[in-house]
Amino acid sequence: MSPEEHDGVLAATSHLPHVAAWALARAVAVRRGTGPDPLHFSGPSLRDMTRIAGASVEMWRDILLANGAAVMREIGIFRDELDEMAAAIEKRDGARLEAVLGGAREFRLALEREAGQSVEPARGPLLGVVRIPGDKSIGHRSLILGALAEGVTEIRGLSPGEDNASTLSVLGSLGVRASRDGDRVTIEGVGAGGLQAPTQRLDCGNSGTTIRMMCGVLAGRSFEVTLDGDDSLRRRPMERVAAPLRSLGAVIETTDGCPPVRIGPGRLRAGRVELDVASAQVKTAVLLAGLQAQGKTTVVEPATSRDHTERLLPMFGVEVERPDARTSRVRGPAVLRAASVDVPGDPSAAAFWLVAGSIVPGSRLELRGVSMNPTRTGALDVLLAMGARIEIRRRPPAGREPVADLVVEASELRGIEVVGETMLRAIDEFPALAVAAAVAHGQTRFADGAELRVKESDRIAAMAAGLGDLGVDVEESADGMIVRGGAELAGGAVDACGDHRIAMAFAVAALVARRPVRIRGAGVMAVSDPGFLASLERVRGGAS
Ligand code: S3P
Repeated sequence: MSPEEHDGVLAATSHLPHVAAWALARAVAVRRGTGPDPLHFSGPSLRDMTRIAGASVEMWRDILLANGAAVMREIGIFRDELDEMAAAIEKRDGARLEAVLGGAREFRLALEREAGQSVEPARGPLLGVVRIPGDKSIGHRSLILGALAEGVTEIRGLSPGEDNASTLSVLGSLGVRASRDGDRVTIEGVGAGGLQAPTQRLDCGNSGTTIRMMCGVLAGRSFEVTLDGDDSLRRRPMERVAAPLRSLGAVIETTDGCPPVRIGPGRLRAGRVELDVASAQVKTAVLLAGLQAQGKTTVVEPATSRDHTERLLPMFGVEVERPDARTSRVRGPAVLRAASVDVPGDPSAAAFWLVAGSIVPGSRLELRGVSMNPTRTGALDVLLAMGARIEIRRRPPAGREPVADLVVEASELRGIEVVGETMLRAIDEFPALAVAAAVAHGQTRFADGAELRVKESDRIAAMAAGLGDLGVDVEESADGMIVRGGAELAGGAVDACGDHRIAMAFAVAALVARRPVRIRGAGVMAVSDPGFLASLERVRGGAS
């Protein structure tokens, strides 16, 4: 951009905030000595809002004078905004005030979600202990089963991410009472038939697991519901879950195959369902529907998917038959009993740290309490095959989920083939593995991952584009890509494509880039791990 354009926009985004911080600090400071001392009555709002008033006075004197004309223009606009707010308050005009606050709030939320975040190269080893968020898949299921059970269910270790929060809030709209204190949640189960008709459409946010599993829960009820979500969710295929549920008698309509999904009142019958895609979300939806029908409901998949539902249901008093690894069967109508669930660490979240610890020279990271469910260890197997140094220290299981601490040390990675069943078992970790492939010596071929195109983003396109922007030699195919690794990553700007895992993958890539990587839309990391960048800062230079 031209120098004039630069000074114009920076006057608004940087210089005005400084002017406002100084003015605010002064406005509060005048109270000192004239009554209760504001310093003794100040909380985070005053501290956050005046943080930059602590900057260098000399430097800012010069900046404000040098960019005077542009800064004066912005001060004028700011003054108008203060006047508008003052007028609304003076006239006690709630609607006018609401319009002002609402517009500002929208901008602030967009800032958190869409603004870019620059991640610096590591320039030293990553050392320490990383806290891995609770497994998202187990979290969703525990919340739903707890809601459908009789009695009070306690869940410990729930993920702090927005996805599990979406399930909790949808259940709340259906009359389920829960209380949350950090990663502990207590749910007052309403019993199999106790869900209440919601007063509005159910917002599943960004969470495909929430919307698909809730289809199984809500099919065959006495009321009508509509399930919806954000722009990304509105592009996710829903017929894969609607069609099997329809075959069991559910009344369910999608919108051109996607959300919003409308579920009408209906009566379910037990039956046998053969799925076209291997999907734990769809399998779970069918099993949850089967719990309400009279008799045995069997679901058969083309390949084995994650089996958390089958491991959790017995803890809630419901037996699941597994004649083979691709078949699951429940008998309804079932009565669920409240349970106590410890959620282990999420192996998909751990994958980013396994890659980061492997590719940043000299690193040693310890990841505590990660689920070692064999349906979820695909990425671990891929990294070990690439030559990663990962020690697996077994720990007592969490319920029926095997658990381990993982210790990863930096090593030279080499390219391999990630295809077939391995690709399926590592589907969620593909973005992290693609970064490992970019650093590894030789070629890595990913194939049989067509599902990647219909996740929170088209993950093949998103990774190919971003790695390409960082100077990596990538060749995209319909169901995967070839990465020719080993060259140094350049740094620059990439797009998170509204996908938490893409954002985190590029934060890991930035660690080994020559220059910082700016990730557009990095705030989306909050979908699964709001603390990811803070954890990264803690292990840089070895603080744990
Ligand atoms: C999940 C199943 C997988 C996975 C998703 C979570 C689950 O999706 O990709 O992140 O919790 O059941 P599919 O069921 O579509 O394979």
